[in-house]
Amino acid sequence: MKPLPSVSLQGRTVLVTGASRGIGAAVARRLAFAGARVALLARDKEALGALAREIGRGAVALACDLRDTETLKRAIDQLPSLMGGVPDIVVNNAGAFFLTPAGETSVEAFSETLATNLTAPFAVVRALLDAFRARGSGHVVTIGSIADRTTFAGNAAYAASKHGLRALHEVLREELRGSGVRVSLVSPGPVNTDLWNTVNPDEHPGVTPHASMLTADAVADAVHYVVTAPLALNVDELRLSRS
Ligand SMILES: NC(=O)c1ccc[n+]([C@@H]2O[C@H](COP(=O)([O-])OP(=O)(O)OC[C@H]3O[C@@H](n4cnc5c(N)ncnc54)[C@H](OP(=O)(O)O)[C@@H]3O)[C@@H](O)[C@H]2O)c1
Repeated sequence: MKPLPSVSLQGRTVLVTGASRGIGAAVARRLAFAGARVALLARDKEALGALAREIGRGAVALACDLRDTETLKRAIDQLPSLMGGVPDIVVNNAGAFFLTPAGETSVEAFSETLATNLTAPFAVVRALLDAFRARGSGHVVTIGSIADRTTFAGNAAYAASKHGLRALHEVLREELRGSGVRVSLVSPGPVNTDLWNTVNPDEHPGVTPHASMLTADAVADAVHYVVTAPLALNVDELRLSRS
């Protein structure tokens, strides 16, 4: 049997949020290596500039706090002039995490986590969706988490945000079925990145030690698989754990 052709990333444009380090930086490197031109969004302007220079191929850095939805919208609205059009793919990856019992979590910290992990990805989709629909193509990749289905003690804000993000993804899947716009949820278990800097996983009971975590490069490979899948296929959901 002849395999269906996979989607080529040559000449495609990709917006990656949270691209200054960790999974987002790995995804940007992986998709650029496959031929895509990437727009990198996060707050750390220096890290974004360094990564854009390292990647080359016309990579663009957009320094922005995505909790500020008006600034975020302005940054996304610049993309057509910076990249010659609305991006072909968006990877909603930026996220924030802390472990604190619910009874010690401030309302402000809870709300900030929702702003970063849930409202901002919605704002990114909202800014691009009309153009994706009008064009009849586009791919929204959402980086979820094991915590978008499984709950852990100390995880109230993060679990609430990631469960909500999975729900948003599922609604988009229903609304966009048949439109030509693909949506995929990629949900990794623990990944060895700076996200864990405040926790010390090697000494925290019940937390996966660093050595047993996934790598950011492995998650990037999964994202590459999802966005290059044959056009007739929508990878609805991919759950990742260490083999
Ligand atoms: N590491 C894990 O174990 C794991 C497991 C499952 C899912 N995930 C998910 O994977 C995604 C990436 O996490 P990671 O592990 O790569 O974490 P990370 O190394 O801490 O990176 C987080 C990224 O998000 C950006 N970001 C955070 N707040 C932002 C804001 N307000 N505005 C703009 N950018 C912001 C950060 O950039 P700046 O600080 O420069 O803004 C950084 O680039 C997150 O959605 C996380 O929930 C991670």
